[in-house]
Amino acid sequence: MAQKRERWGTKMGVVLAVAGSAVGLGNFLRFPVQAANNGGGAFMIPYLVALLLVGIPLMWVEWTAGRYGGSYGHSSAPGIFQSLWKKNPSMKYIGVLGILGPLIIYMYYVYIESWTLAYCYYSLTGTLGGTSDTSMLTSFLKGLQGIEHNEYFSGLGVVLIFFFITFAINILITYFGIRGGIEKICIIAMPTLLIFGVLLAIRVITLDWGSFDGLGHLWNPDFSALKSPKVWLAATGQLFFTLSLGMGVILSYSSFLRETDDVPLSGLTAASTNEFAEIILGGSIVIPAAFILMGPQVLEKIASGGPFDLPFVTMSALFGTITLGQFFSFLWFFMLFLAGVTSSISLTQPLVGFLQDEFRLSRKKAVGLFAAVTFVICQPAVWFYGNGVLFDLDFWGGSFIIVLGATIEIILVAWVFGVDKMWREMHVGSGIRIPRFYKFVTKYITPVFLLTILGFWFYDEWIPLILMKGVPAEDMPYILGTRLGLVALLISLCILVRIAWQKRRRQTGSEA
Ligand code: ALA
Repeated sequence: MAQKRERWGTKMGVVLAVAGSAVGLGNFLRFPVQAANNGGGAFMIPYLVALLLVGIPLMWVEWTAGRYGGSYGHSSAPGIFQSLWKKNPSMKYIGVLGILGPLIIYMYYVYIESWTLAYCYYSLTGTLGGTSDTSMLTSFLKGLQGIEHNEYFSGLGVVLIFFFITFAINILITYFGIRGGIEKICIIAMPTLLIFGVLLAIRVITLDWGSFDGLGHLWNPDFSALKSPKVWLAATGQLFFTLSLGMGVILSYSSFLRETDDVPLSGLTAASTNEFAEIILGGSIVIPAAFILMGPQVLEKIASGGPFDLPFVTMSALFGTITLGQFFSFLWFFMLFLAGVTSSISLTQPLVGFLQDEFRLSRKKAVGLFAAVTFVICQPAVWFYGNGVLFDLDFWGGSFIIVLGATIEIILVAWVFGVDKMWREMHVGSGIRIPRFYKFVTKYITPVFLLTILGFWFYDEWIPLILMKGVPAEDMPYILGTRLGLVALLISLCILVRIAWQKRRRQTGSEA
């Protein structure tokens, strides 16, 4: 029952759009913080193992499942999961994770993106780029975030303006659609940000021989960390976050492929572009810069402050010490802004696609509804940032749901849909053949890897997390409120799925 669907314009366009979704704030802000927090070289071994055994196979699985679900007229996980296991009516509810995850990430991602826009502005005006005083720069960031009232900011007014602008840009691009909005922007933004990234990496690495110690911090392996489940979970979570896996986003993008469009080479190209941006650029800009300026202890201290904060302070401090600091500061924050926008527009697509496909809404109405709902649900991260709301959202959306969603997805595709059928599907229209070894990895190693990580995580962390151990008493109401809000969101999405499928059954008599 193929319907007239929007399609990607070019092969390069889809690869750049997927790479655009992947390369984001996660690469340049979250990755260095995670690596620093988890001991640098200690983090990289689990990260690289997870990339080969989980990241790459899952990328192929998501591209294949998305293209397959798209042939049934679905562009979001509820419909795609249902088309993979037609006889099991609960699949569409499990697929809700693929809308909830990106929505939760969107709830804080656009806000952080708006800081990068604010930093571009303050680089141009000269407030940033001319000082290397880290305590001033930390106060500046805290003032912008509304945590402190100080000489730079007296409230949230300024950041709200940047937030509105960033939010509006995201909605506008989404409104113009897959080909007219998302693809067009990514074709321009991705090469631009990669060029900026290379320039910045060269500038930082050639700063001082001390930067090689910073690279050493990231690359000198620490095999003892292999025994720590926490480091494995952090590395796997970061990998999913950065590759946009388990979020329902790649599923959604690949549902707009034509049925004979290539999957293996395109998926691999998008993943490699992301890893280049993360390991080579993300790794050689922030970590060495922070290392030169602060040394390992201070670096770990700032990294433990917030999942995205470190590079705002360290990079601004670094630019304050170099010639043309203002220019490089603008370049860095503008690169972050481009990386952020090309990712956040992908986070809009699962819900917008769901409303379009399952409720037959026009793009305009679906985007309008999305904008109205997300504008409201983005507010807690803005107003209660200092109470830990953003960190909690980042844990649920940026780690837990994506790892859980990916585990369910790999079992569904490799075991229920069937690894042989998936392998055949994957190679339809393909430019290359994937080594057969990966068939074995997809069927056995990836699911076992993910189940083990989740098992350890449940064993170690579930009870303290639910009991909010470690959350300061004054923040508890905010965290509780956030979690109740997420449960309400989950229930609302399940109700929407139910209504949509009741209508579908009346009209077509089919689940898929
Ligand atoms: N993959 C996106 C990022 O890394 C969400 O920021």
